[in-house]
Amino acid sequence: MTKAIVNLDLPGPLVSRHQHGHFAEHLGHCIYEGIFVGADSEIPNDKGIRLDVVEALKEIGIPNLRWPGGCFADDYHWRDGIGTDRPTVVNSLWGDVVEDNSFGTHEFMHLIDLLETEPYICGNVGSGTVQEMSQWVEYLTRGDDSPMARLRRSNGRDEPWTVKFWGVGNESWGCGGNMRPEHYADLARQYGTYCRDHGDNRLYRIACGANVDDYAWTQTLMSTVGDLGCGCRPADHFQGLSLHHYTFGKSWEEKGSATDFDTDDYFTTVANAWRMDELIARHSTIMDVYDPTRRIGLIVDEWGTWWEPEPGSNPGFLVQRQTLRDALVASVTLDIFHAHAERVEMANLAQAVNVLQAVLVTDGATLTRTPTWHVFEMNQGHGDGSLLPVQWNERPTRSVPQEGPRPDVDLPLLHASVTVKDGRVLVSATNLALEPQEVDLELRGGSVSLDGARLLTASDLHDEEVSVTAFGGASLEGGVLKLRMPATSYVVAELTLE
Ligand code: AHR
Repeated sequence: MTKAIVNLDLPGPLVSRHQHGHFAEHLGHCIYEGIFVGADSEIPNDKGIRLDVVEALKEIGIPNLRWPGGCFADDYHWRDGIGTDRPTVVNSLWGDVVEDNSFGTHEFMHLIDLLETEPYICGNVGSGTVQEMSQWVEYLTRGDDSPMARLRRSNGRDEPWTVKFWGVGNESWGCGGNMRPEHYADLARQYGTYCRDHGDNRLYRIACGANVDDYAWTQTLMSTVGDLGCGCRPADHFQGLSLHHYTFGKSWEEKGSATDFDTDDYFTTVANAWRMDELIARHSTIMDVYDPTRRIGLIVDEWGTWWEPEPGSNPGFLVQRQTLRDALVASVTLDIFHAHAERVEMANLAQAVNVLQAVLVTDGATLTRTPTWHVFEMNQGHGDGSLLPVQWNERPTRSVPQEGPRPDVDLPLLHASVTVKDGRVLVSATNLALEPQEVDLELRGGSVSLDGARLLTASDLHDEEVSVTAFGGASLEGGVLKLRMPATSYVVAELTLE
């Protein structure tokens, strides 16, 4: 039996709903076929955008969508994707296919409108210019008779759009230009300067942050961006710094199979996912030195499982299957983000449709909600809730050996998030163990009633379909929420504060 304490009367920071964000890149069948089928398609669509995909993303309350990449962002020239005369280009990064630019700025913003969500646009630093990025911001957000606003109107859109989240390049240490941190930091200052606030639109500029544990990148960027020589503070120019961490079976070189894995592989995978906790903590510690009041958010704008490509698929399309294991990686990772609510303002799963740990998979007119979709659906109530930190008095753990010099990881086998919003308490818990676990969650400082609980699991970790059912293993006894969790399962319980 595991015991934990939650103080209902001591709410912590707000869990930004943007932690549950998504990402759609011009990669494989994410945009084309996955989201955009063209207005002439027999698949029901609105100006070419699949309505079934829109509905399924709305069901999980999608709070934002990042576009057009990823690596593609630093190869993308936005003027190719507006107007009636659109050139074709080669998407050399992803499958070396020809991109016809039929999905561009107006189509993306129409998708945003249909989804009733917020855009997160990533601009091109790697192969673009400062002027190009500056004009894209003007094209999107300026209301008066400026040159770019006029160009937008000539393409049929009178009113400016609202765009808050703006990425200044992607993976500039890699596919986005292979830059040294010193060089990128200077470019980030330069590009950030010319990404202007037009009218009432206020940009939240996101500088490219580190790859996994590249703490030197964060150190250099924060110190250089912080040293503006103008009495400005870093957050005057940048409001966010990104972080990318993918979960591989073993390593980038040995990603492992999506479906063919043994027990050790499973625990190695979840330990790799759990590493997100250490990464956020350590990058935050560096950020705290330059930004002690936490005005700059950590934006984990790419995360998720990344397996060997599905046999027979184009390896550049990053097609993979999913099992219950992927769902548990998602639930544990979301718990990590929630626990770091003070610093993690946004996170974006890679990717929304048909690529990597997608929430949706399409095959012609068929749409499948993946195991990960169900985790997002069950988790969405945490968005914009106040965090109620969970104090574990003892948790079962499993020692998981690591590659290279890293010490073994003591992987906690139980994870949970608790938030409160509008008098409703949402508890979510993950049991990573191969055995059932009993958890007693003592809810102090208030009284609650239990409204209901749901369980996500499958009969085997390798199952590609999960079941989500009403959960009879939750009960409330004398202020203690008792969860009798099956092996490898995820549970949400809803309670009302009385
Ligand atoms: O999500 C797939 C790719 O992974 C992105 O394009 C890139 O940013 C990252 O390396």
